[in-house]
Amino acid sequence: MWARAATAYLRLVTEMRPRACIALPVPLDVEARLGAACSIELVSERDLSAALPLAEGLLISNAVPVGEALFERAPHLRVVSGFGVGYNNVDLDAANRRGILICNTPGVLNDAVADLTMGLILAFARRIPENSAFVHARRWGVAALPPFGFDLRGKTLGIIGFGRIGIAVAQRARPFGLQVIFHDVLDGARPGFEDCTYCSLDDLLRHSDIVSIHANLTPETHHLISARELEVMKPSAVLVNTSRGPVVDQAALAAALRTGQIAGAALDVLEVEPPDPSDPLLGLPNVIALPHVGSATHETRAAMLDLAVTNLIEALSGREPPACVNPEVLPMALQPRRHTPV
Ligand code: DGY
Repeated sequence: MWARAATAYLRLVTEMRPRACIALPVPLDVEARLGAACSIELVSERDLSAALPLAEGLLISNAVPVGEALFERAPHLRVVSGFGVGYNNVDLDAANRRGILICNTPGVLNDAVADLTMGLILAFARRIPENSAFVHARRWGVAALPPFGFDLRGKTLGIIGFGRIGIAVAQRARPFGLQVIFHDVLDGARPGFEDCTYCSLDDLLRHSDIVSIHANLTPETHHLISARELEVMKPSAVLVNTSRGPVVDQAALAAALRTGQIAGAALDVLEVEPPDPSDPLLGLPNVIALPHVGSATHETRAAMLDLAVTNLIEALSGREPPACVNPEVLPMALQPRRHTPV
């Protein structure tokens, strides 16, 4: 009798636990951590739809569109925990209307993205991909000279978006002797960065030898760098983008690179990911392109997952999570919504 009562009690407790849909591959220890706090359903992104009707929480990559279409299928949803800092995949107005909390993973990937940005700057300045290709093509000792690059010391780095990642890039750029100027929605000097000069976007583009983009993708920053802005840049300048592809008008960029209006581009992100094989940018010799790997180190991805899981568990347990982008919905989102046992 006690055994039956215990089983019934366990079932009741399990049913009362919040239901979370996990649409990311997670290692076993993370699955156990989630399972201790929630009733979880592990699904692939492709099978996500079927799990939505009962889900109160969702753990998901930031490549999946999150808006009305998804919310309509998820009447009990109150928290979406995104695996990534960018949340341009989310219709935030729709989430706010429904009182759904959107969480992300800021901070833990600053170093990885800033490191990669410096890597791209150095790769372009010192022509690392071409020099590597030179050796692989058995041209060392045969052709006259390997390709020469340019020094960073004394050059100007223009950072567009002086938030957490932009600042981490500035910190890395200083010891290389780069003079940093920046443009941001918040103007004026930053404490501790008085040597980095705020300027208008056009002044930044006009004076920079390297332009590096670290802005969020929003309706205001969509195609922020377009044909007109590329025309303002120096013909010797390189455009670096490790933020989001659509911040740059890629067709205009390809044209500017083809005609030599600017010297080159080093991109971790593209407007369409993965790109169409016929994308003209991929055939240009003055382009370095990476497959959106800004945060792709073992340590950083583990820290991102840890934060995304903590966000989900905390919010579903009725506590404020460490990172969310729409705290105004917290009072509604932290309350359980599932009234019928399943
Ligand atoms: C982020 O976290 O937004 C990175 O770009 C990885 O998606």
